[in-house]
Amino acid sequence: MKLIGPFKQVVTLANLPLRGKLSDEQLEIIVDGGILINENTIQKIGNFETLKSENQNIEIEYVEDEQIVLPAFVDSHTHICFGGNRANDFAMRNAGKTYLEIAESGGGIWSSVQHTRSASEEDLLKTLLERIDFLISLGITTIEVKSGYGLDVENELKMLRMIKKAQEQTKATLVPTCLSAHLKPRDFSGSNEDYLNYILTEILPKVKEENLAKRVDIFIEKSAFQPEESKVFLRKTKDLGFEITVHADQFTPGSSRIAVEVGAKSADHLEATIDEDIEFLAQSETVATALPGASLGLGEKFTPARKLLDAGAIVAIASDWNPGSAPMGNLITQASILATFEKLTTAEVLAGMTFRSAFGLGLEDRGQLKSGLKADFVTYKTNNFQNVLYNQGSLKADSVYIDGAKI
Ligand code: NIG
Ligand code: FE
Repeated sequence: MKLIGPFKQVVTLANLPLRGKLSDEQLEIIVDGGILINENTIQKIGNFETLKSENQNIEIEYVEDEQIVLPAFVDSHTHICFGGNRANDFAMRNAGKTYLEIAESGGGIWSSVQHTRSASEEDLLKTLLERIDFLISLGITTIEVKSGYGLDVENELKMLRMIKKAQEQTKATLVPTCLSAHLKPRDFSGSNEDYLNYILTEILPKVKEENLAKRVDIFIEKSAFQPEESKVFLRKTKDLGFEITVHADQFTPGSSRIAVEVGAKSADHLEATIDEDIEFLAQSETVATALPGASLGLGEKFTPARKLLDAGAIVAIASDWNPGSAPMGNLITQASILATFEKLTTAEVLAGMTFRSAFGLGLEDRGQLKSGLKADFVTYKTNNFQNVLYNQGSLKADSVYIDGAKI
């Protein structure tokens, strides 16, 4: 056992509901608190001095200066395994071309596919690990990572194998997701339906065999896969035993409804979701994930997080870090900005980046500071936790702990 502290404030996020709006008065803040660790889990949270006197003769890790501590963050939607860069797309969009126009002219996702296919395994792994380290430095210790820039058996497996290799080299938890249904690749001769069947028969069985991912994602959009074919595909992936997540309602509405109907763990994007579908999401267990990084990258509107929370949805916030629509990768900055535009409370933002996003990944062992949960947390040199969002990402994390150990 080990006691860490004293912290000026321990913001536990414990006892907050999984869904719906939150007020900041609901936050549990323990002043002069400590965290008692047993191996890799939290044994107890409480007043530091009390914990110290209750547990004589245990190791004490004293915290220097005034610090506050939060549960570590969970980024439940990223595409950080990729080759190349799309700075030119960014410049073209800012000069007036749309995301879809750039995609149609050979830029967009397809250009990242070409760079990812031609990248060596070493380079792909190296840049992936660099991005993971950047996220860890922000206090993010659980990271979902999608394939989706390979788009054939060889290259989708290459990506997923590199994600698996990266997991062997990082203490962060990686959650791999197979996004072979990102786009029908230009060199596939056949219809969308043929390509989706190719994923079902050629890619997913191998993903299963090598235990490379337990989740499947699809981009349902006019420029990618259509609602009906996607629904059939998702039902079949479910029959194969995969969990589902969906890129839904990014530019056109309708697909979040499909995500709910097929029982997806999450429906992500939702910038274009209509009021009726907000209600539908709110009645479901499907997590509604806002991706403010994509709104900032594309200059599009934000996910209606306020309306979703008011309707009672489970709202997560993730970075969508990818080379095209969301190149920034700083979830803390993005979530702070979303809060300003959508009028979200600090509690709603923190919940959206911790236990609510963890729920969407099927990980209910983290995201709050309470006994029995994974001892992942992040500390900041400040005496007020509100400074984390107030500084919009420029207040750097001081220490990041994974399984109770500082990394
Ligand atoms: O989540 N919308 C589709 N997929 C990604 C973008 C990927 C890319 O542009 O490379 C997204 O925004
Ligand atoms: Fe995405």
